[in-house]
Amino acid sequence: MKNVIIFGPPGAGKGTQSKLIAEKFNLFHVSTGEILRKEIESETILGRVAKHYVEKGELVPDEVIMRMIDEIFVEQNKLKKFKGYLFDGFPRTLHQAKELNKMLKQYKQSETIVINIIVSEKEILKRLLNRAKLENREDDSEDVIMNRINVYKKQTVEVLNYYKEINIKIVDIDGEDTIENVFKKICKHLKPLLD
Ligand code: AP5
Ligand code: MG
Repeated sequence: MKNVIIFGPPGAGKGTQSKLIAEKFNLFHVSTGEILRKEIESETILGRVAKHYVEKGELVPDEVIMRMIDEIFVEQNKLKKFKGYLFDGFPRTLHQAKELNKMLKQYKQSETIVINIIVSEKEILKRLLNRAKLENREDDSEDVIMNRINVYKKQTVEVLNYYKEINIKIVDIDGEDTIENVFKKICKHLKPLLD
């Protein structure tokens, strides 16, 4: 099984690129942010718990996220059609990364690569404030965006050090380019692993 982790700050283009990559390489796209937004919209129990955190730009507690991931892994028959998972916005804490590592070990010959999309704060703000005008994502107000960036720096960036320690390949991608060019750059690195 081949897995890809799309890493990067809010607004880096994780979701945009993930959709393109998942389709091109036949990967099962897992976006924890998308799952949470659907749960919030449907006002499920999980959604009600998550809303409290998402609207402030805080991370949803690890145990809630890991329960969601567990459920996805349980439905393994779904994976049969795919080459592996594409994780978008997950893992976001050291704990999540370690748990995911344990879960992936159950598969023989599982290989994982991290695509780290790098974008400046100025560009993040520009993109997300622009999206705020077009769509209605509750966490795209300026103060919540700033908090999401801070949370990323404080709680998520360290996940990269963990992947370095356990020798998982990390590819840095300059995300300040057109969507098409970023996709091309990512594909160049994924092809040898996934084709
Ligand atoms: P999540 O949904 O993961 O949001 P995020 O990381 O804050 O990032 P975004 O989805 O806003 O940005 P993106 O990098 O996907 O970029 P996108 O492609 O959309 O998480 C939301 C919340 O859920 C979290 O704050 C947390 O509360 C909770 N959560 C989720 N996962 C969790 C976890 N694992 N643990 C705990 N809590 C969790 O692009 C952004 C905009 O830019 C779009 O308008 C797009 O059109 C545009 N754009 C994209 N690429 C380009 C480009 N190359 N040039 C110009 N514009 C571009
Ligand atoms: Mg996203």
